[in-house]
Amino acid sequence: MTYTWSFPGVALITGAGGTGIGAAVAKAFAAAGCGRIAITDINPDSLQKTKDSILSSHPATRLVVEAGNIADESFVESFMDHVIRDLGRIDYAVNCAGVLGDGVRSTETTTEAFDRINNINYRGCWLCSRTELKHMLSQEPLPSHDPSRLPQRGAIVNIASQLGIVGRPSAPSYCGSKAAVIALTRSDAIDYSKDGIRVNCVCPGVIETPMTTYNQEVTDRLRPAIEIAPMKRMGKPEEVADTVLFLCSTFASFVQGHALVVDGGYIIN
Ligand SMILES: NC(=O)c1ccc[n+]([C@@H]2O[C@H](COP(=O)([O-])OP(=O)(O)OC[C@H]3O[C@@H](n4cnc5c(N)ncnc54)[C@H](O)[C@@H]3O)[C@@H](O)[C@H]2O)c1
Repeated sequence: MTYTWSFPGVALITGAGGTGIGAAVAKAFAAAGCGRIAITDINPDSLQKTKDSILSSHPATRLVVEAGNIADESFVESFMDHVIRDLGRIDYAVNCAGVLGDGVRSTETTTEAFDRINNINYRGCWLCSRTELKHMLSQEPLPSHDPSRLPQRGAIVNIASQLGIVGRPSAPSYCGSKAAVIALTRSDAIDYSKDGIRVNCVCPGVIETPMTTYNQEVTDRLRPAIEIAPMKRMGKPEEVADTVLFLCSTFASFVQGHALVVDGGYIIN
């Protein structure tokens, strides 16, 4: 038995463009020795940056890179087919693409804004995980790092939020969409346990990414949440990525349906 985690299978990450959590997860897989990685994002330029970054530090990585909208069912299915065609299977699927709300209460939220958030954060996550599960079900499991443990057919990590667990002012659509991701995770975890597939989610607190820093108004809106958390700082996308890799690895072989909070202690306060 080796006591370092290894990723012999294929990793797939949505929302992997730029400098956010998805990009950090993709780079962490490459750094951890995963040799086959598929990345997608709606923004082709930021996706190209993640591709360039991975290939500059790990040039032997086999990549599938395709831009598209994960709220579009036909894109999701054709992208995953592309991954299977080029890389053979899907072992570690990280559904990270997401958007923040406008920072308004329900009475100021338009139906269009509500639908947009839920179409991407909840429905888009479900479209991706449904297709990933279909492919995982048809593949042979890979052995664990520990031969005494059961092999793993696949592991899915959905990126929810601490706001799926606790409320925050003026974020009803976002909070609802992330609570839905946690509930979806638990339900899928129950259904696919017997198939050797684990489904978990990570609930980040305030993390320093383009989502939280792209304009001063958003950063100011989040400042009270940073002050409430005992660690009193924003987290780094790499700190979230490490927890995602743990949940994908066979070190997490008995972790199922969990919502792992990575928030500097916010929700315990
Ligand atoms: N940053 C935080 O504080 C924080 C906290 C909790 C949860 N999250 C969640 O983490 C995930 C990643 O967020 P981030 O902070 O890295 O933000 P980010 O904006 O850097 O990353 C989100 C990525 O998703 C992509 N995306 C948006 N809509 C898409 C769509 N329809 N199809 C495909 N790609 C799309 C964006 O282009 C972007 O690259 C999101 O689901 C977010 O809700 C973030």
